Order: sequence, then C-alpha cells, then structure tokens
Amino acid sequence: MTMLNFPELNCGKCKTYLVACPATRKALLIDPLREHLSRYLAFLAYHQLKLDAIVDTHTHADHPTGSFQLKELTRARLVMHRRAPAPAVDEHVEQGSSLAVGEITLEVLHTPGHTPDSISLHAGDRVFTGDVLLIGGTGRADFAGGDAGQQYDSITERLFVLPDATLVFPAHDYRGNTHTTIGWEKRHNPRIMGRTRAQYVALMASLNFPMPDKIQEVLQPNQSAIEDDKAKFPDLAQLNKVRQLTANEVCALLAGPHPPLVIDVREPNEYDGPLGHIAGSMLIPLRELASQAGGIEQHKERAIIAVCRSGVRSTTAAAILEGMGFETVYNLKDGMIEWNDHKLPVER
Ligand SMILES: [Fe+2]
Repeated sequence: MTMLNFPELNCGKCKTYLVACPATRKALLIDPLREHLSRYLAFLAYHQLKLDAIVDTHTHADHPTGSFQLKELTRARLVMHRRAPAPAVDEHVEQGSSLAVGEITLEVLHTPGHTPDSISLHAGDRVFTGDVLLIGGTGRADFAGGDAGQQYDSITERLFVLPDATLVFPAHDYRGNTHTTIGWEKRHNPRIMGRTRAQYVALMASLNFPMPDKIQEVLQPNQSAIEDDKAKFPDLAQLNKVRQLTANEVCALLAGPHPPLVIDVREPNEYDGPLGHIAGSMLIPLRELASQAGGIEQHKERAIIAVCRSGVRSTTAAAILEGMGFETVYNLKDGMIEWNDHKLPVER
C-alpha cells in the first residue's frame, strides 16, 4: 500500500497529520485544530488533494477541534469512535473497523484510557496514537472519562503488539520530537517500562497535574458541537454533582409505579437514528434546553432522566435542569450506546 505522508502540519505541540492516496488524491486529516483551518485548506489545494475524511482521535480537552467547521467547508466525513459524544460525527468506528481513504486502508484500534473514545490508526509502517501513547510518555488519564488501567491495557495489548519498527506519531509532543517507534517505546518509555498494570495506575494517580486552563470552555463545545452558548454551560463542580444511573437502573425505574420523565437531548436525526430512543421520551436538543424548559415546568414534581448518545451531553443537560430548580434529575450513564449494548428496548 502506498500512501503519501506529509510533515506534521502545525509545527507546534498539538499535532495534525495528513495522509493521502497517490492514486485517487483523496486525503485524510487527523486531529485538525480550529486555528489552522486556512492552512489545511491551502495545503490541500497546493498538493491537489481532496479531503475525504477527518478523524479526531478522541474528544480533545485542550484545544477547540477544527473538525466541525472543516467538514462543513469541505463536505468531508468526520470519523470518530462510537463512544464519541459529539452529534456531528458522520461515521462511527470501533476496534477492528477499517477506514478507507481512496486505496489506503487504515485499521482502527480502540485504545481507551486517555478518554473512553480514544482510537489509534494503523496503516503500513506507522500508527497514529492520539494521546494514549506519547513519545516517552503517555496522555493524562485523570479527567474526561480517563482510566489509567484501561490506558495500560491499550498500550500493552493493542499498540505494543505491532512490529517494533512501526513508526509512532502521537497527537502531542512537548519536547520537539517528531516520532518514535513501538520498539523504542517498549524498551524506554519511562512510564510503562518495567511496570505492572497496578504500578502504572499508582504512578498515574500520584502525578497530580493541574487542570488545563479553560478545560470546560474547550471540552464542552467539542463534546456537544454547540459553539455559541458557552456562558450557559455548567461548571465542573455542577457536572460532578449530577447523579448517574446505569441503563438497568433506568429500565427498572421506568417499569416502576412512578416512572420518571425521560428527556432526550440529542439532535432529531440521532433520536430517529440507528441507536433509536426510549419509548415515551421527550426530545429537546441540548441547544434548545434552556429556552424550552418552560414546556416541562408541569413535570417539576417528577423525577427526570436526561439521555443522549454517550452520557456526556445529558450530564450537561442534567446540571442545567438542576440549576433551573428541577429537584430530582438523573443522568443515563454512557447514554443510548450503553442502553443498546444491554439490548434494552428502543423505538426508531
Ligand atoms: Fe487529548
């Protein structure tokens, strides 16, 4: 398989990669930044490439994604893992999926740990590892659904099984490196080398990094694709207070004597899409929740369960409803993805 590889496009600490098929001139952009959209479009035009697909390796917490605007401008499809919360994703992938760009096929590896929706892309002599495996480091696992144990498993069981010579291109590097290899990381990565899973989890728990600046201002638009409403987003403390129920717990409540009101905060196309919706649920997209909450005032005495695709937007919705005085609000943890994985009934 031949593919055109270009130097990393941002020349900064956040990395954006372009790969392209020489036969069809179709291209894939990995982790574009909002601030460099013009650069990417100019680069594509200069090299006479057509942007076919955009991948965010995960929901970023440190910079606004450029993917939503870029897909509007180019009509390229946005590809992310099925656990990605954003409604703007056109193609959901999972472990073992393949992603075709012209005559190039990239293998999708689900590598959670930095976030639940982290993927790596393996093609030919290289792997793009997002923020799960960095050069001589690993991505943080202490917020946005991170899990150090999962991260250790992803790195040791999904990445370190690739050939030693495989080139590693991460989504970040803070020390001016361009790439590394699987073999080098296996032998020298100071976080992983010589550590058991339990030792790695303990190490990550001991690191105590400060929270990134403006994390909620960046994370919530990336999760929800709502750009214009930042002031109304609840803060981290409010989100952490939201009570979470599993799919089975929600199902039991719905079958009980006082069924709660289910408010589904996805977009209409998702509500009627492949994951379906819970029977009797009321559709109020997150972007309209604040203005439409008057319509549910009469249910103020009832318990409310907020629902979305992966449980992220609905946590925001639950915090908004609590802020408006609704007293018993729960979130469906992991959203309709989990509901479907448990084979619970849906309407389409
Ligand atoms: Fe990240």
